[in-house]
Amino acid sequence: MNQEKQAEETWSVKTSSPDETFRLGQLLGAMLSESTVIALMGDLGTGKTVFVKGVARGLGVADERDVTSPTFVLVNEYRGRLPVFHVDLYRVEKSAEVEDLGWEELISAPGVTLVEWAEKVSKLLPEERLEVHLEWVGAVERKLVFIGKGQAARGLVQGLGEKWMKEE
Ligand SMILES: Nc1ncnc2c1ncn2[C@@H]1O[C@H](COP(=O)(O)OP(=O)(O)OP(=O)(O)O)[C@@H](O)[C@H]1O
Ligand SMILES: [Mg+2]
Repeated sequence: MNQEKQAEETWSVKTSSPDETFRLGQLLGAMLSESTVIALMGDLGTGKTVFVKGVARGLGVADERDVTSPTFVLVNEYRGRLPVFHVDLYRVEKSAEVEDLGWEELISAPGVTLVEWAEKVSKLLPEERLEVHLEWVGAVERKLVFIGKGQAARGLVQGLGEKWMKEE
């Protein structure tokens, strides 16, 4: 348990506009250079999709207007510097449904896999992952808590925090 805790890196930040959440995502996207699973957790309207759009932009996806939640197909794929897989599990009721959709392939795919409503499949998430917990603070304010699990994700959280401070 203790060891598991030590293997985490946490950073939290508040944003005060959708634009700021987008920029935070963009900064993270620009840092990604290898396959990464990003698990987004948080209520309706907390900004998960806004953040994903930013990450996609940072990964060089040409037009983030193409980035919309994949309501019916569950997974959208975008072409960026790395392949980008955007998963939205809002409509999923049982994690078994997700296993049927080729979950294993998805989380081991070479590219960046972003999962909205990842809390629905918490048991199926890979050990090495970047979690982003989003909370509603006020009409235009959100709190984002980044938890890096595994060496690469820890590095990302640390790097993101440092880069964000410099941008401010
Ligand atoms: N600081 C902020 N960061 C992100 N979004 C914000 C912020 N302030 C206000 N908003 C608004 O909150 C909404 C976030 O919507 P978004 O679709 O990204 O949420 P979501 O978490 O993906 O929801 P869902 O669970 O329905 O997929 C948008 O309407 C956006 O304009
Ligand atoms: Mg969404």
